[in-house]
Parts: sequence; structure tokens; C-alpha cells
Amino acid sequence: MTAPDPSLVCTGCGFVAAADQPLPFRCPIAGRDGRDHVLARPGPPPDAAVPADGDVQPFVRYRALSHAWAVARRRGLSDDAFVALVRDLDAAVAAVDGEGRGFTITPYRAAPALGAALGLTGDRAGLWIKDETGNVAGSHKARHLFGLAIYLAVAERTGLIDAATAARPLAIASCGNAALAAAVVARAAGRRLRVFVPPAADPPVVTRLVALGAEVEPCPRRDDDPPGDPCYHRFRAAVDAGALPFCCQGSDNGLTIDGGMTLGLELATQDAALGAGPLDRVAIQIGGGALASATIQALTWAHAVGAAARPPAIHAVQTAGGFPLVRAWRRVARGLVTRLGGAAAVAPAADHADDRAALAADAAAARWLATHADADAIAGALDAAARDRASAMWPWQPAPTSAASGILDDETYDWLAVVRGMLTTGGWPVVAAEATIVAARDRGHAATGIAVSATGAAGLAGVLELAAAGQLAATDRVAVLFTGVQR
Ligand SMILES: Cc1ncc(COP(=O)(O)O)c(C=O)c1O
Ligand SMILES: [Zn+2]
Repeated sequence: MTAPDPSLVCTGCGFVAAADQPLPFRCPIAGRDGRDHVLARPGPPPDAAVPADGDVQPFVRYRALSHAWAVARRRGLSDDAFVALVRDLDAAVAAVDGEGRGFTITPYRAAPALGAALGLTGDRAGLWIKDETGNVAGSHKARHLFGLAIYLAVAERTGLIDAATAARPLAIASCGNAALAAAVVARAAGRRLRVFVPPAADPPVVTRLVALGAEVEPCPRRDDDPPGDPCYHRFRAAVDAGALPFCCQGSDNGLTIDGGMTLGLELATQDAALGAGPLDRVAIQIGGGALASATIQALTWAHAVGAAARPPAIHAVQTAGGFPLVRAWRRVARGLVTRLGGAAAVAPAADHADDRAALAADAAAARWLATHADADAIAGALDAAARDRASAMWPWQPAPTSAASGILDDETYDWLAVVRGMLTTGGWPVVAAEATIVAARDRGHAATGIAVSATGAAGLAGVLELAAAGQLAATDRVAVLFTGVQR
């Protein structure tokens, strides 16, 4: 295995964080000029492959695709030493996680009865579920953070960051799955963690965070706070004061997408192994958007290196309680449809529409764009949106509410990557009614026995909406991610 170039590139301004940059987390001019700045991997390393089998530890199996591995090899750490470092950290995670779990490839299984009930009755058609409910700390979130922990360990071991930098506290804003996952991984890595939570955070979660040694800091709204989540504002202030962003938002730490990619790499190879032909659709619940950004990147890379025949259409799912990402897609898609002369026939729905007619309008616009917008037109629309972030993304008001409490981010931090993912795959976003969110959790549980939470089943809620609106073909192969356990 050769050492690829570990540079990162800002998708907003083109800034390159070179290989010897110790903390390549955020573009240095982010937040200064109205652009959307996110540091991202430029693409899969040359000669990369997505292994179809091998080690059951995903961060070992897919290591040659990771940023941390590229840095390690570049700085003279052997492949064996990298694997040993991952295994040590994984063993420490298993010792800290309440249920003794380390990272392992998670199950991917068919849900035939549910698929049939949704009309997916064609020969190879059906519904598949990637089950993250048994993952470390009970959700997929720990993947993001374990990737960051590996990076920090590699950077420290190879002298890329000095002892003083390595001793800086980690920081995250969250009151749920991400905080719990961060606390487990930080404890395993022997690092201090500051967690910024809302004053009304779930007491059992706070108790667990404290038991894991995290420093929990409640964040009431202050009079001088700008719009948006006060926990997020305190988190940003902590990072500006020197804390390391140990978060699940690519806009604050582009490397968080890296660890999250393991989920999509597993999904791509597990699905390909079925030999049933390419997946047609993947529906993904959206909070801050990192889950979808990482999954989209993984599926895109899997396709780019030949491990998947084509990337599936991506459907981002939010709740009727608040859907800033859907609004953003509509804004970008509307601009593109207008520029290409299709506005009279296929306008996406209005910003705040959340009924079945809106879903039909968005689907029609997406299907039209799939045949009328070439790659250049899509890239142009995305560039324009990236230049003027506020034209598409701003905090949802009033603060969103839903039983899917894990995806109530008022702002979709990784919106651009997710909008790109939908436009380039022919997908479109879905707003799930509150009743559908609850039904997805209950039907998902009944059909599979998986104790999935409403947040965890929200992608399925999107599929229920698509089915009810007649937007699925009987031949479709559809996948969803059950991302979190019911606590
Ligand atoms: C269980 C679960 N699924 C999905 C999400 C959404 O992920 P993201 O915030 O990266 O969009 C979250 C958290 O936000 C979550 O806790
Ligand atoms: Zn930038």
C-alpha cells in the first residue's frame, strides 16, 4: 500500500490544507465572507479499492481509504503500527462502552415483509436496512468520532501535533447520541471533553456523560446570542479559545466525515455482495447532515473505484417540524430549473410546503433535472450556492420539534454536500409528517425486532412517504439506515 497525498480542499474557496498542516479541520476564512467553507477530501486515493471482505474492524478494513492512514504513512508510521494503534484504541472503546462494544461491521439485512407492504415487489426489488443500533454507544455517531480520535493519535504519534496541542480539551455541542459517543471515545482515548448541552437536556444522558468523565456545560440562550443553537455558539467559542472540535459537523471539522464514511463503505460492499444489482435509492435522515454527507461520499467513492455499479438516488429526510435542508435543496433546484428553462413545468415546492403535493412537485423537478441538468450545470448551481450560503441555509424558526429528537438541528451544517448528493444522483428530499415518523419507528420495530428510535427510523419514514405518494417503482431496491437505538 503506497502513501496517498493527505491534502484537504475547501469546497467553498479552494483553500488547500497541505499534508503537513497539523489541525486540518476548518477553512481559515470560514465564517468571514458569507461563503460555505468545508474542508473535504478531494477524492479517493489513486489506485484505491474498497475491500469486499477482510477484517471485521471497519477502521482496519477500510484504512487505506482514510485520511488518518494517509497521514500516518506519509509521516513514516508503518501499516502494522497504524493497525496496532487502531486496535488499541478500539479495545479501549470496548472497555469504556457500557456494553463492551468495539467497532465491527454492522448488520445489513432485508426486510421483505415491509418492502412488500411498500409495493417493492419486483424480482430483485425490496427494502434493506443497515442496522447501527448495536454500534458503540448505540448509534452510528461514534464512527465520526473514532475517525477523529485515530487522526489525533496518529498526529501525536508522528509529531505532527506537539504535546501542548494534544493536551487541549476536545469539544462538542450535543445532548444526545453524538455527545454519548464522543464521551465514550474521548474517555477511551484518555482525552478531556467539554460537552455543550441545552438546559433541558435529558437527565439520564447528562448522568451518563458525567459518569464518562465529560465536562457538561449547560447553555441557556443569552440576550446577545445570534440566531441559531446557543450550544453551538458556546462550542464555537470554546474552539476559538483552543479546544479541538470533536464534533459531528463537517463544517467545523471536515475530518469527521472520514470516520463516518465507514458506514457507507460497508453498505456499498454488503449490498454488492447480494448480487442483486445496484441499489436504486437510499433514504437518509438529516440533522446536521454529516451522516448523509459521509454516506454520500462513501457511495460515490465506491462507485468511482468500481465497487458499485452506480450511486443510488439519495433522499434526504427531515420532519415536518423543521426542514432547513429541504428548503435549501428547493432553493438550489429552483434556481437550476429556472436557468435551464423548465420553471413553467417543474417548479420545486415552495420553501415551507410539507404536504404530498409538495413531494410530488419536488419529485417532478428532480426527475426533470436528472435529464436536463448536466454535470457542469449542477456544479455551477452548487458553486453559486456555496458563494452565498445565506441564500440557501439559515436557522429554522421556531426551533423544530418532533419525536425524532436527534434530527432537530435548526441548521443543516453539511447542507451543501447533501444537496450536491441529491442533485448528482437524481434524488430529492422528503419531509416526513409527524405521524409517519412515529409509524416508521413502530413498523420498523415490528418488522425487524430492532429496537430503533424515532430518529433512527426517520429515513424509513421518508420511504413510507415516498411509497404513499406513489414515487417508488415496484422494481426499486431501497436501503435505509437504522441509526440509533431506542433508549
Ligand atoms: C440516531 C441518529 N440518526 C441520525 C442522525 C442525523 O445525523 P446528522 O446530524 O449527521 O445529520 C442523528 C444525529 O443527529 C442521530 O442521533
Ligand atoms: Zn474556504
